[in-house]
Amino acid sequence: MDLGISGKKALVLGASRGLGASIARGLAAEGVQVLAAARSAVTIAASAGIEPVAVDLAERTSVAALIERLKADGGVDILVNNSGGPKAGPAMGQSRESWLAAFEAMATPIFEITDAALEGMIARRWGRIITVGSSGIEQPIPNLALSNGVRSAIAGWSKTLAAEVAPQGVTVNMVLPGRIDTDRVRELDGLKARQSGTPIETVQDASRRDIPVGRYGRPEEFAAVCVFLASDQASYVTGSSIRVDGGMIRGR
Ligand SMILES: NC(=O)c1ccc[n+]([C@@H]2O[C@H](COP(=O)([O-])OP(=O)(O)OC[C@H]3O[C@@H](n4cnc5c(N)ncnc54)[C@H](OP(=O)(O)O)[C@@H]3O)[C@@H](O)[C@H]2O)c1
Repeated sequence: MDLGISGKKALVLGASRGLGASIARGLAAEGVQVLAAARSAVTIAASAGIEPVAVDLAERTSVAALIERLKADGGVDILVNNSGGPKAGPAMGQSRESWLAAFEAMATPIFEITDAALEGMIARRWGRIITVGSSGIEQPIPNLALSNGVRSAIAGWSKTLAAEVAPQGVTVNMVLPGRIDTDRVRELDGLKARQSGTPIETVQDASRRDIPVGRYGRPEEFAAVCVFLASDQASYVTGSSIRVDGGMIRGR
């Protein structure tokens, strides 16, 4: 299938490793010119179609500089909203500061960057906004209250925006990872192992038993869905949240 996006421009946030890096590579393989953004942009190897950009989404001045650059460059056709995950912890007793910090690192920067990117997309009557969420939006993950809460707010924003810009040829979707094998998931498994006093392998085995496919996903399996949503072929898919979780979430 020709995805029809060769020559388009994309900005992928959180692209130095894990899901974001894989999405950036997947888009570049389709001939998209990708700006790959993260704090440690120096670790992103510039390669055919991928240009590293430094941004700290938790810093307002850094986000403002990225938006300026986006505008000066004439915008992008495809925006992938992705960020680091917040610290683990229960819902009870979370401080106001923790909630605000998580919201300001994960939600407000992507709202602002999306608004900036939409200007050009609407003018060109073609655009793709893809936001990485979590299975925790559909089934809250124990001890990840900040993630479950802030990502649910992002899901409400994404769905609202989808209806606003659909007539202008811009689609807005979310992709929800279950357990994809990345640094973040290894970190969370390690934390669970330490807290429960069990080896990490035991934690991982229990996790795999919860997944009908019987294994963690590979970042490129997740990226493939995002790349399709970025394509010209996905023009009638908007306002959707698509799980990539090996069947882990049991509800319909
Ligand atoms: N992997 C999964 O199965 C899974 C499941 C549910 C939810 N998620 C969520 O999906 C997102 C991506 O997952 P992942 O597994 O790829 O996470 P990851 O391995 O931790 O990668 C996160 C990426 O975001 C960047 N980042 C972190 N903080 C940033 C900041 N302040 N400003 C700019 N970039 C920042 C990191 O690069 P720098 O450190 O260089 O900035 C890195 O490129 C995370 O929010 C994660 O919680 C993942």
